[in-house]
Amino acid sequence: MFKFFKGKNNKLKTASIDIDFNNVPKHIAIIMDGNGRWAKERNLPRTMGHKAGVETIRRIIKECDKLGVKYLTLYAFSTENWKRPKDEVSALMKLLVEYLKKEFDELNRSNVVINNIGDISKLPLECQKELKAAYEKTKHNTGITMNLALNYGGRDEILNAVNGIIKDVKDSKLDINKIDESVFSNYLFTKGMPDPDLIIRPSGEQRISNFLLWQCAYSEFWYSNINWPDFSEQDLHKAIYDFQNRDRRFGGIKK
Ligand code: FPP
Repeated sequence: MFKFFKGKNNKLKTASIDIDFNNVPKHIAIIMDGNGRWAKERNLPRTMGHKAGVETIRRIIKECDKLGVKYLTLYAFSTENWKRPKDEVSALMKLLVEYLKKEFDELNRSNVVINNIGDISKLPLECQKELKAAYEKTKHNTGITMNLALNYGGRDEILNAVNGIIKDVKDSKLDINKIDESVFSNYLFTKGMPDPDLIIRPSGEQRISNFLLWQCAYSEFWYSNINWPDFSEQDLHKAIYDFQNRDRRFGGIKK
């Protein structure tokens, strides 16, 4: 069990971490929010916040892997993020390419599958190239799958699935009477993956922001006031600990 005590500045500290390894969420999804506010608090340009956010990705993927999480989905760029100033959008795309180039060897050595979800065909060609190459080279790895959600929107994903289904019905590849939840799920970007057990949103915001709308039906939500660049391994442990103490009934009743 976690034992909390009050450390310096009255902050909660974890004395010992005793996560139940039999009940680690298989799939964690994170809305990496608060980069801009983190930078603003330090009088830095927003892009520095995103840069600091990349450092957090590095730490959190390692920790998730260590804990036995099988899928980590990171919301890196939404279908709505194109509304941001051009400079910020290009800085994010540049960061993505840098991240993939710099981290590839280490992630591959750690057996990580570098996957992406979202409509990446709208991303700059260099991003598409790096993402496709990273996936091709790691798709047979057997460790944690990191899903980078890029130009991702839950509504867009559902529409895309509906269009895919219509096409397959028209092409006689799918029987119109056989469309159930499981068939529908196979037309989503997350095809073949379990739904997220736990969705984490740092930075104090408490909304879903078009993230995994189909898949979050029975996800547990965990919010924290900490901005993403400051999100620590200990915060992840707290989220998992909290998750492990929830009563998940999936609409049923406890036996
Ligand atoms: C939300 O914070 C964050 C984003 C829209 C981008 C997240 C991107 C990264 C962490 C780095 C790039 C990703 C990769 C995979 C290299 P915000 O900017 O909305 O923060 P704010 O709400 O405080 O303004």
